[in-house]
Amino acid sequence: MADIVRWTFTAPDGETVLETPAGMTVLEALRSEPQAFLPAPCAGRGRCGRCRIVVEGEAIPRPDPTERELLSEEDLADGVRLACRTRPAADLRIRRDDPGRARIHTETGGLVAGVDPLVSRQLLKIPPGHLEDQRDLAERLSTALDRKPGRIPLWLLKDLPSPTAVAPVVTAVGLPGEIVSLESGDFRDMSWTAAVDIGTTTVAAYLVDASGTVIDSAASLNAQAPWGADVVSRLEYARTGSSGARDLQQAIVRQLTSLLGELTARNGVPPEYLHALTVTGNTAMIHFLAGLDSTGLGESPFLPTAREIPPFPSWEIGITGFSRLWIVCLPCISAYVGADIVAGILAAGMHTRKETCLLLDIGTNGEMALGNRDRLICCSTAAGPAFEGAHLSAGLGSVPGAVDHVDLRDGELFFTTIDDAPAAGFCGSGIVDLTAFLLRAGLADDTGRLDEDPSRSPSGLSIRPGDAGSELVWDAGITRGRELTFTQKDLREVQLAKAALAAGVETLLAVTETDVEDIDTVFLAGGFGNYIRPESAAVIGLLPPALSGKVRSLGNAAARGALMTLLSRRHMDEAIHIARNAESLELSGREDFRHHYVESLFFPV
Ligand code: FES
Repeated sequence: MADIVRWTFTAPDGETVLETPAGMTVLEALRSEPQAFLPAPCAGRGRCGRCRIVVEGEAIPRPDPTERELLSEEDLADGVRLACRTRPAADLRIRRDDPGRARIHTETGGLVAGVDPLVSRQLLKIPPGHLEDQRDLAERLSTALDRKPGRIPLWLLKDLPSPTAVAPVVTAVGLPGEIVSLESGDFRDMSWTAAVDIGTTTVAAYLVDASGTVIDSAASLNAQAPWGADVVSRLEYARTGSSGARDLQQAIVRQLTSLLGELTARNGVPPEYLHALTVTGNTAMIHFLAGLDSTGLGESPFLPTAREIPPFPSWEIGITGFSRLWIVCLPCISAYVGADIVAGILAAGMHTRKETCLLLDIGTNGEMALGNRDRLICCSTAAGPAFEGAHLSAGLGSVPGAVDHVDLRDGELFFTTIDDAPAAGFCGSGIVDLTAFLLRAGLADDTGRLDEDPSRSPSGLSIRPGDAGSELVWDAGITRGRELTFTQKDLREVQLAKAALAAGVETLLAVTETDVEDIDTVFLAGGFGNYIRPESAAVIGLLPPALSGKVRSLGNAAARGALMTLLSRRHMDEAIHIARNAESLELSGREDFRHHYVESLFFPV
């Protein structure tokens, strides 16, 4: 066997010829090819069946037992394989079996610029030097900036005008405690900033002009997806992979460089005038970006390396092309309650409200906060990625063709799909609707057992025996050789995820001695929160029924919070205050949480 194999990967924007060591899997090879983004929800363990590729050529590898189990006969016949099982042979052409572009929620609601933006833009008129005033230009500038002399870094000194200029005018751009840029002349309008929300699944970036107006946004799936869909897989890789933490940092750095490049190019912004980027995300995402040791996040007693990171220049982490860009990470509360929840609390205004509110951010982790201006308490539950479509037989992310809503009308089951594309699977809101339908129709009982009687199927749907209990099959839902199914195992995954979330809420209520009736508003953050039907969430027990009428969707609350800190220093101070003062409840090992979890496993039929 040759030591090096030459093969071709085809992406929508072109082909790449790869030379990889024989025996390396396609997934391992593609992880270092940024243009060949391939998500691997189970991090290559051969469990999720999502790293689908299509192999073309003379010697298509024979499927291994895992592929036989996770792929249909039609798929296998069409050359579909799993990237984590396939070892390329010479001259093969391999492409992603593309489910389409994800719908990424970038709506943050209207925002108003404060009078105190995070980035200050000052026009300094520096007194001219003369024989009686022998101070150099930097000293005169330091006086104008109210700073000690000798503290202006070299890269800023290089941009200053001649010390003999008659009346130098300098634009000083600064962050609290830092000078970002000094430039000869009046450039106060030439200053842009950006905010980014690094979600575990998606990354959304926003561009803001000098007046504080959000002028554009761009988003893409998190480039760390090839190392697992969830935070735990990536923490594990960072700890055990040979270049784990570095791979994860480089992936997100490349992605931010690309998103910021897209935004600046599209809006005619010279990259050197992008001055600040506020970043939010969970604690692991912030650690990966900053290059901090993340080992403590995954091991008891679950300690971050740093909850607060001072602003740093972008080139310190390898972002290139933005010569004056500084990065400001929002602070985190604990190992599992990150800057995204701080930003969400800020966006919801929970820290200033008299009324008690609940914030829920449902992703692979269910992060939540309960409280008001007097007390805020947060926790995170390992809900698993079921509501993001992972680990379900026909689960999908928010991509075209994902069933997002399910309805029963006149005894017949209807569903809508994203972009009205042919149904290809279920995304989170569709899964919640479907589960609610099954419970209402008596096709699933309170223990989560699916009905086994085929005669009870509503029109358009069949009940048939599966490997582990019943499974439901949609007559019309057949796409690309795959049936649209919902199995007993899928329902169990939903049951576990909703139990973890519901138990988190119950524990917070109990610890704070809050009656559910006393909650004024439930804020749902994130894309899932935007599309979920509150009444369906109550039917499946994700939310107590008393709360279903109090739900308010916040859109991308984390991004909104990151933008707020950019638009006002007061908001940044509030974010720091929230992170320092909110209590974090560690649920692992708590007897009361375990008790609520077991109780919440039942559906409230
Ligand atoms: S089966 Fe390949 S990444 Fe999950």
